[in-house]
Amino acid sequence: MSDEFLSRSPEETMEYARRFASDLRPGETVSLCGQLGAGKTVFMRGITEVFNCDDQLSSPTFSLLNIYHGSLKGEDVTLHHFDLYRIKTVKELAATGFDEYLSGAYLAVVEWGDRFPEFADRYTVTVTLEHAGDDLRRITIKRTGG
Ligand SMILES: Nc1ncnc2c1ncn2[C@@H]1O[C@H](COP(=O)(O)OP(=O)(O)O)[C@@H](O)[C@H]1O
Ligand SMILES: [Mg+2]
Repeated sequence: MSDEFLSRSPEETMEYARRFASDLRPGETVSLCGQLGAGKTVFMRGITEVFNCDDQLSSPTFSLLNIYHGSLKGEDVTLHHFDLYRIKTVKELAATGFDEYLSGAYLAVVEWGDRFPEFADRYTVTVTLEHAGDDLRRITIKRTGG
């Protein structure tokens, strides 16, 4: 899988996300970065499809953490999905039990992971989406520590 992809539609972003998710190993932690409207949530939807997740149980209003239950090759898997957009301080984030949730699932995906450099070393891979005009989005995948 290449490190950079130019998506022309939400559908292409989802398709790319599905391929990305299929390559992930258990225990990975993904930092999902990009400005508002870049497509982070669209990308996440591609990931949850691969794991056959139930529809999101929580309301569409803001929540810091969504827990999805799905399956992979017949095995039950749990996904933790954070959106850090409204978290203001690292103290506030730490108080949510963020660190434990990061490692307690088959896969953890953190939207706005780059807002808190204090946790940068927790991620195994960073996905960045950037506006590239109209419906174009540049998607960059970078393997990190973790
Ligand atoms: N190539 C593309 N990839 C992803 N989203 C796109 C693309 N082109 C247009 N869009 C639109 O951009 C918006 C992305 O929204 P969303 O995924 O919620 O962004 P974020 O979570 O990064 O704030 C959606 O309305 C989507 O339909
Ligand atoms: Mg979002």
